[in-house]
Amino acid sequence: MKNTTFLDACRRGEPEHSPVWFMRQAGRYLPSYKRLKGQRNIMDVVKDPELASDVAVDAVNALGVDAGIIFADIMVPLEGIGVKFKIEENVGPVVSNPIRSLEDVTALGTLDPERDIPFVLDGVRSTITKLDDALPLIGFSGAPFTLAAYLIEGGPSRNLEKTKATIYSRSDVWEALMRKLTDTVKDYLTAQIDCGVSAVQLFDSWVGCLGAEDYARFVSAYTAEIFSSVSGVPRIHFCADSSPLVEEFHKTGADVLSVDWRVPLGDVWRRCSEETAVQGNLDPVVAMVGGSAMRTRVADILEAARGHKGHIFSLGHGVLQNTDPENLRQVVEMAHAHTRSRR
Ligand code: CP3
Repeated sequence: MKNTTFLDACRRGEPEHSPVWFMRQAGRYLPSYKRLKGQRNIMDVVKDPELASDVAVDAVNALGVDAGIIFADIMVPLEGIGVKFKIEENVGPVVSNPIRSLEDVTALGTLDPERDIPFVLDGVRSTITKLDDALPLIGFSGAPFTLAAYLIEGGPSRNLEKTKATIYSRSDVWEALMRKLTDTVKDYLTAQIDCGVSAVQLFDSWVGCLGAEDYARFVSAYTAEIFSSVSGVPRIHFCADSSPLVEEFHKTGADVLSVDWRVPLGDVWRRCSEETAVQGNLDPVVAMVGGSAMRTRVADILEAARGHKGHIFSLGHGVLQNTDPENLRQVVEMAHAHTRSRR
């Protein structure tokens, strides 16, 4: 592989330059994405391996990043176990049969990725072929907690009231659902690795609504089980809005902790260990604002990472829709130039 900087950083080696990639780098902020997608819903794109791989590779080429990410959505494996949902523009996933009882959980199927969602794996294979060994492809899945939250809430929710009510008062439903989702995610990520992805990222976007004690009691064992069963490639744990949980995330065994802008980067190494790699953490709003405000913060982040092994430059969360791609190209250039200037 020509550009190994991302994988070198994940393994805390000595990359040629600071690697950069962005969550949601393929998305509506890119004019070429909008062109490729046309009038289709995102799930139509995901189910068309040729188009999905074009979208993923196009984002890599448009930005000059050091890694690609498969084009899918965290909801995709749930379709494979019989969940009915739509991804509504400007809303997000909406589930038509939310989980309300133990029977609802038992009714879910068992995921066989090649049988139930072959289009994702075809998309992975096609993306890898199109990247032509130029750089690594990251596979991903939603983490069991975030998937459970979508399944129980049925859609976006501010306080995750139904999810927390299930955790606190229906432990039978919670445990059965987390068991089912943990098995699903393990099989889903393993299938992606078998198809050749170079790293995997687990998105636990909503887990920040829990305190550290509840996370340790009700969630972390499932996440840890996923990381211990998925091997052979670097494993990244993304968590948003969850500074108090960082030590707990570290204990789940991920190789890379991906944090948002609320956590000073150096704190992650200090609070967890020098032995972990860290991904992040420019505020996507700052990336949208651009200009000198952005450049100052990019420089601050690169400075905070100086002297630590294993930093992957990224945003603290996904690229926002109103971001000028030119801003992201500038971030890539700055990160690459910064490392070179230190040598
Ligand atoms: O380059 C990439 O990273 C694209 C692949 C990708 C998508 N979703 C495609 C997508 C990835 C990695 C995701 C992850 C995802 N999806 C997460 C975890 C990351 C995070 O943001 O916390 C979550 C929570 C979802 C669920 C979801 N899907 C939401 C909240 C939305 C936004 C709804 C909207 O319209 O703003 C989606 C839709 C979605 N998934 C889009 C994309 C490019 C935008 C809609 C579209 O293009 O039609």
